[in-house]
Amino acid sequence: MKVLVLNGPNLGRLGRRDPAVYGSTTHTDLVDLCDRVARELDIEVEVRQTDGESEMLGWLHEAADRRLPVVINAAAWTHTSVAVRDACHQLGEPFIEVHISNIHQRESFRQHSYLSDIASGVIVGFGIRGYALALRALAGSD
Ligand code: DQA
Repeated sequence: MKVLVLNGPNLGRLGRRDPAVYGSTTHTDLVDLCDRVARELDIEVEVRQTDGESEMLGWLHEAADRRLPVVINAAAWTHTSVAVRDACHQLGEPFIEVHISNIHQRESFRQHSYLSDIASGVIVGFGIRGYALALRALAGSD
C-alpha cells in the first residue's frame, strides 16, 4: 500500500513557526517520522508540502486517479477552501485529516473544517505524532 501525506501552507516552516502552538519539530522531522512508521508498517509513504493551492489540488487529483489513501493537513485551507474539499471528495480511498494543534481549543475561525464531515477520520492535537496515528489507522495497525 502507498499513502500520500499532503501538507498545506506554512507547514514547511514547522520548528520556526509558533513553537508554542506547533512545537519545535521541523518538517524534516515529520518526514523522518512518517518514513520510520512506514518501514515499521511495511507500507510506502510519500510526504509532500506546498504553499500553492493549485499544486495541492493537482496532488489530490493524482491521488484520486491512482486510488491512493491520503493523510492531509490542509493547514489554513482547512478553514477556507471549498476547492480543497471538492478535490478530497473525489478520493476513492480513505483519507484522514490531521492537525498538529487542537484546532478546537483555538480561535473560532479554526473550529470549522471544510474536510471533517467527508474525511474517514480526523486526528487533532497530538503534534506530529498525529501523522503516525493516521498511518497506523490506514494500515489497520493498532
Ligand atoms: C493546522 C491548524 C490550522 O488552523 C493552521 O492554519 C495551520 C496548521 C495544524 O496542523 O494545527 O496552518 O492545520
